[in-house]
Amino acid sequence: KGKRAFIAGVADDNGYGWAIAKSLAAAGAEILVGTWVPALNIFESSLRRGKFDESRVLPDGSLMEIAKVYPLDAVFDNPDDVPEDIKTNKRYAGSSNWTVQEAAESVRKDFGSIDILVHSLANGPEVSKPLLETSRKGYLAALSASSYSYVSLLKHFVPIMNPGGSSISLTYIASERIIPGYGGGMSSAKAALESDTRVLAFEAGRKHKIRVNTISAGPLRSRAAKAIGFIDMMIDYSLENAPLQKELSAEEVGNTAAFLASPLASAITGAVIYVDNGLNAMGVGV
Ligand code: NAI
Repeated sequence: KGKRAFIAGVADDNGYGWAIAKSLAAAGAEILVGTWVPALNIFESSLRRGKFDESRVLPDGSLMEIAKVYPLDAVFDNPDDVPEDIKTNKRYAGSSNWTVQEAAESVRKDFGSIDILVHSLANGPEVSKPLLETSRKGYLAALSASSYSYVSLLKHFVPIMNPGGSSISLTYIASERIIPGYGGGMSSAKAALESDTRVLAFEAGRKHKIRVNTISAGPLRSRAAKAIGFIDMMIDYSLENAPLQKELSAEEVGNTAAFLASPLASAITGAVIYVDNGLNAMGVGV
């Protein structure tokens, strides 16, 4: 029987989430996505109007189907967490059941269970500020949106994940090496995400037979990365210095996610898997 995947963090066809959805769809999985509430309308109308049709083409020529798009804001666990200004914000008021707990409950009602959970989202309001200039509020917001959001997603989805299931997130090498420009506590957030990958692999593995891994991806010109401001420089740096001197495609990350979600990876859990043309292995640039 085919597997079902929930991919949190898809709002256009440029990011890693979209590429992962495609690779999983190509491998036969049913695709559900979670889309950030403020981006929901434009994503759904673009989908409907056929704006993504070219990027929906799978290797066999068919178009990727998204069985359902769920509104999601992963910084809120349940309705009690939502402050008044967000509740009444007109970008939020038009949607409902978008906290993590409610989204998991909606998926359970609609589909019963899932096999694959993907976290492909991050947000750091002060990402362009050096860590030394980052406020407490900005730092904690980065951790909330980019790290705890994963703990919360897994916590709420694990009860509807079938044993043998697999969970994947996306990280960046700024967690372990100095990458000037990746500020605002985002480097700290990725360090937390990687550490949590190990602890969650233990807990979800022992209790639910679920595997938990993270992909440390190289630079991609996604919407989020363009907002940081240094993505072209990072792509050029990788082209010049990585063992494999080619531009990284989102599909290469998608294919790794499909592998990690499959029985081919049945003994891999708690791992940080680099998909970066080998750049992580270099000690100096040459
Ligand atoms: P993207 O812009 O396609 O994806 C980020 C998504 O997060 C967007 O769809 C955005 O709407 C969503 N989002 C932000 N805050 C949210 C919230 N509170 N609740 C729900 N959704 C929220 O960009 P990209 O780059 O593909 O990012 C996906 C993951 O890949 C992120 O974890 C990012 O840190 C990671 N990554 C990206 C790299 C790059 O060079 N683009 C390199 C290494 C890792």
